[in-house]
Amino acid sequence: MLDPIDKLVRVAGGRGAYPPMSIRVRSNGLRNQFNGKRFESFGKILADELANRAGLKRDTRVLEIGCGCGRFAFGLSDVLEDGAYTGIDIDAPSIAAATDNAFLSRKKFRFEHLDVRNAEYNPTGKVAANEYRFEFDDDSFHVVFLVSVFTHMLPDDVKNYIKEIGRMLKPGGHLVFTTFVMDAGTTFDGNNFVYGTGPYRSSHPEMHEICVGYYTDFIDACLKEAGLERTGEPVYSTKGRTVPNVETTEFGQDLIIACKA
Ligand SMILES: C[S@@+](CC[C@H](N)C(=O)[O-])C[C@H]1O[C@@H](n2cnc3c(N)ncnc32)[C@H](O)[C@@H]1O
Repeated sequence: MLDPIDKLVRVAGGRGAYPPMSIRVRSNGLRNQFNGKRFESFGKILADELANRAGLKRDTRVLEIGCGCGRFAFGLSDVLEDGAYTGIDIDAPSIAAATDNAFLSRKKFRFEHLDVRNAEYNPTGKVAANEYRFEFDDDSFHVVFLVSVFTHMLPDDVKNYIKEIGRMLKPGGHLVFTTFVMDAGTTFDGNNFVYGTGPYRSSHPEMHEICVGYYTDFIDACLKEAGLERTGEPVYSTKGRTVPNVETTEFGQDLIIACKA
């Protein structure tokens, strides 16, 4: 019901190209979605993070896994002049909205739907995430990134995705992803991650995929097996908790950056 009013406000504010609010909330939640300002500002923060930490520039070939309706495709649209952006996701309505978006089509940004299973986003998906093989050649991308995606996936699925990313990245290419780093404590922005064992914790008692955080031991083991190496300490989000004496990001989750030798 709010879509027409949201559109009026967005058009007046120069944000008319974004997908309708009813689509944006599918992957970005209800909080602060009206008017598209938050959608826009997070897109810009991420574009800066990728430029500073993963060398993103105008001719970079980028794969975004779990792109939703394209929040970061919009964010990167000013930067990727001669590069290429491919976004993939398991949520069919989000991918349909991104594919049909006139602005993103003019930029020649590509979107693809994967029918991979996830308890929260695609419970009837055909293929398990822990055995999915992406349909991209080896050494295809300079940068692969995932925002708020491993926070909805369990360890075996994350392990397989990182292995696949190691295969698809070009030598010297970067993987950037967000997570809640549990080494810094199991409370983040008022959420207590007290469920689950071993390499992960969840803040949800029944469906752990709703909100998952990881320990870096596990992340590092996955990276190593995939031929990747973490390039530094996690970059901690200023939004979730205070971690003394570490590098921080304005982003809403902690950032991990890794590089392929
Ligand atoms: C919280 S949303 C974030 C969307 C987008 N990255 C953003 O920040 O705007 C999580 C996204 O991950 C996608 N997702 C969940 N499991 C996935 C999987 N196994 N493979 C690809 N995408 C997945 C969901 O469909 C959803 O769009």
